[in-house]
Amino acid sequence: MSDRLYIFDTTLRDGEQVPGCQLNTVEKIEVAKALEGLGVDVIEAGFPISSPGDFESIVEISKAVTWPTICSLTRAVQKDIDVAAESLKYAKKGRIHTGIGTSYYHIHHKLNSNPDAILERAVEAVKYAKKYVEDVEFYAEDAGRTENEYLARVIEAVIKVGATVVNIPDTTGYCLPHEFGEKIKYLVDNVEGIHKATISTHCHNDLGMATANTIAGVMNGARQAEVTINGIGERAGNTSLEEIVMTLKSRYKVLNIDTNINTTKIYGASRLVSNLMNMPVQPNKAVVGRNAFAHSSGIHQDGVLKNRENYEIMDPTDVGINESSILLTARSGRAALKHRLELLGFKLEKEKLDEVYEEFLKLADKKKDIKDDDIALLVGDATRKERRIKLDFLQVVTGKDLMPMATVRLDIAGEKFDATSAGNGPVDSAIKAVKQIIHRQVIIDEFLVQAITRGSDDVGKVHMQVEYENTIFHGFGANTDIITASVEAFLDAINKLPVAK
Ligand code: KIV
Ligand code: ZN
Repeated sequence: MSDRLYIFDTTLRDGEQVPGCQLNTVEKIEVAKALEGLGVDVIEAGFPISSPGDFESIVEISKAVTWPTICSLTRAVQKDIDVAAESLKYAKKGRIHTGIGTSYYHIHHKLNSNPDAILERAVEAVKYAKKYVEDVEFYAEDAGRTENEYLARVIEAVIKVGATVVNIPDTTGYCLPHEFGEKIKYLVDNVEGIHKATISTHCHNDLGMATANTIAGVMNGARQAEVTINGIGERAGNTSLEEIVMTLKSRYKVLNIDTNINTTKIYGASRLVSNLMNMPVQPNKAVVGRNAFAHSSGIHQDGVLKNRENYEIMDPTDVGINESSILLTARSGRAALKHRLELLGFKLEKEKLDEVYEEFLKLADKKKDIKDDDIALLVGDATRKERRIKLDFLQVVTGKDLMPMATVRLDIAGEKFDATSAGNGPVDSAIKAVKQIIHRQVIIDEFLVQAITRGSDDVGKVHMQVEYENTIFHGFGANTDIITASVEAFLDAINKLPVAK
């Protein structure tokens, strides 16, 4: 008989905390629905006390999603718990996730407290949350660096007052896999009543061991894993959903543990999150990276042609990678595009589909080999068209031993403005021309240009971080012309600035 691992997805909470990855409520609902389609058991939808936007998103996700449990995060603070309970009022199954730091560092240097007082606060928080919901998860923040004996005391105490899930986060990504596994085993062996609760892992990837630590935890008795799509999350990220699910599937004979995930939807969910959050997936990322199933050396190609299993331990179609089955070209119709978009997790209304299709045809004229990433970018572009400041015209003159000059026309709420500027390069001259029009003291802190697939006809993606009045804003642009992509990224960030009076 196999065991079941519950998948708790925190893309919309721990993942969304990443600078530049913030989503609006509509986008969060789209991700939540994709997670439901994927078959996750729990969706951590936000930290409601942190902002009205987070609160509203949990309410709307609760309405939009049917069967996964919706989870709302709190500190061990009554006001947080009140707000979390309120945020879950429409959830068919709601869970409050409350907790407190238990490591020496957190107790003494963050909470200015002592171990007994922290244990008391943990118990009081769980008791208080139980007044609202039956399903209460407790997290012992920085459990990875918490002494096992004290951790066991805290966990035993919260289970006694009704915690249904006990989360053991390696908050700082510090543990080695054998240490994390032993920690879970210690709790299994030493906590009275441990069988009354599910043990959960929540590993961060600071040393690149989040997946290994989670698997070690599962091998020692954890039956819930907290994960994010593409491993996004604070700093180096969280354990990635796709790595855990595919490890369990590929090594089932050894681990004998199942999940409820429909693995063929993994790739679509990965693209959706990457595109909505403007967070590129590294090409060599396990399971969902562009090169995860690409064989480039002659020996490997020959081996795969003889028998796929010579060099592949997973079938790409098992994770929903099916690129070559429909080749999209300038002759493809709307239906083919719609089908491809649906595989990528996008369900578009007719009007938006028409708009994306028009842009698709223009791109297909410039680029013969249209990839999934190109298509997902077109969807993003169609959304950006609704912005207040738009690029209407751009002309750049540049070349070796020439002074680059750019002329820009912006459409600001329907009115047109022109400017021309020189610069030390084509991007610099175009951005300087834009700045002449918008008159805002904006500093570009980060500027990242990336080709998304390959070839000189490729689409270039630009990520920009700008600073305005001590606040950071992120912008994103994509185009076969990287100067246009750069200006689009700059304008994307500018559109997020407070409107000037
Ligand atoms: O990393 C962590 O400890 C967390 C908790 C809030 C669960 O994200
Ligand atoms: Zn975390």
